[in-house]
Amino acid sequence: MEFEKLLLTNNLKSKDHFTSVIEATTKAITSSLNTTLAYRGLSPDELKKELNQIEILPQQGEGFDEVLTTVLKKILPNFLYTSSKGYMAHLHSPAIIESIASELIIASFNQSMDSWDQSPVATEIELLVIDMLTKLYKLGNNSDGVFTSGGSQSNFSGLMCARDWYCNTILNHDVKKKGLPSNYSKFRIYTSHLSHFSVEKSAHILGLGYDSVRKVPTDKKFKLDIISLKLMIEEDLAKGFVPMAVLATIGTTDYGSIDDIRKIREVCDQYSMYLHSDAAYGGALILSEKYRDRIDGIELSDSITIDFHKMFLLPISCSAFLVNDKKLLEPYQLHSDYLNREEDEAEGYTNLVGKSIQTTRRFDALKVWISFQTQGRAGYSAIIDKCISNANTLYNMLDLADVYETIVEPELSSVVFKHKGSDKLNKKIRKALLHEHGLVIGQTSYNNKVYLKCTLLNPTVSNYEMLHLIKKINEIVLNESKAIKK
Ligand SMILES: Cc1ncc(COP(=O)(O)O)c(C=O)c1O
Repeated sequence: MEFEKLLLTNNLKSKDHFTSVIEATTKAITSSLNTTLAYRGLSPDELKKELNQIEILPQQGEGFDEVLTTVLKKILPNFLYTSSKGYMAHLHSPAIIESIASELIIASFNQSMDSWDQSPVATEIELLVIDMLTKLYKLGNNSDGVFTSGGSQSNFSGLMCARDWYCNTILNHDVKKKGLPSNYSKFRIYTSHLSHFSVEKSAHILGLGYDSVRKVPTDKKFKLDIISLKLMIEEDLAKGFVPMAVLATIGTTDYGSIDDIRKIREVCDQYSMYLHSDAAYGGALILSEKYRDRIDGIELSDSITIDFHKMFLLPISCSAFLVNDKKLLEPYQLHSDYLNREEDEAEGYTNLVGKSIQTTRRFDALKVWISFQTQGRAGYSAIIDKCISNANTLYNMLDLADVYETIVEPELSSVVFKHKGSDKLNKKIRKALLHEHGLVIGQTSYNNKVYLKCTLLNPTVSNYEMLHLIKKINEIVLNESKAIKK
């Protein structure tokens, strides 16, 4: 075993080996990009068959060249190609090229964000990026935040901070020390019925259970209905429940609809409730010249979820949890002699572990630091505005065609629609696009009917690709009706 080449060091052999491994990998990646299809089309069984032949743990290592050849044959051609103009399924974006380079830097130096001595410059950069973000979202001088693994963890953090704030401040109960108060099963969290399922998951993990989550109806624009919210709170109070928080959604997963934060804030103030805004999707609008007003009021939230691996087009994972008051992050603070001594803080060494549920944590802040400088406000504004205008165009194309049904005009970049045929036909359309045409779109439901969804996060998509998609759907429908007639 040549240990000299095992790790990346200042040794010449190590550097040469690193360079050749990265160059060969880059070559393999670029040579595999020989299609415009979002997916080559293999079924789960076909994929299993291809992959089952490979022995994952041989007695003797085969060396990287050999393994890369297998990767080139078996994995790269079967990847979902997220940069393809035919990939429109989920809130899952392509990655800006420079951000892929950021990942290489992150992995090469493998910093861990828990303590300053594991990530000196990385800690300082995360602090600066968080400071910049809290200013961008106008959260005030006392604000703070931390990078997380994604929107689900950020939403969990929002609800945990809400629970602890409510127990400590309103009930005068130290939940960190004593656990949940005796009336915990009466706690209620209000969120629209369109909010992300991480809300219920978090409620369960926090010991409050799914029943604590009250699903508020939405209005005709798919925004949380404020009158219903007030009514539900009043009804719950009358029954002895304890309204504790509202989770607003700034960009729902399916429709991109944006709740009215100003009105929700008023309700939260009236009933002494916490307000967390899940802006995993819509938070990106802060950089849009044209559409920034749509998220007006976001600064009134107690805490915010922002996902950079959605509309900001950065590689997974990259999310931030921001709070308007540093004290809200206190639940995550715990000292240990082996990691984050209290004296470190006094001496100016920041240990970020005290702000996070994670201990070992990636240096994801670097991706924002590099990408924000590379693109600038103008670059991001152009990206976001193009995605939103694409969604409007697709909505209009579908709305004008007799055979399609649309539901709501997009506020962000997703379009939910269906062919007027049966549920079975709409399911068939999605599968045929995936396996026969290399086009990947989403599926959801509305009023118990199957709907299709395009989430447009690729600014290089033009009218041509949207017309192509509609053409392919029409062809599938025609073939289906011919097959039925036979
Ligand atoms: C509105 C919203 N919030 C939160 C999440 C969860 O984010 P993540 O997948 O990064 O955990 C999603 C995911 O799509 C989402 O759409």
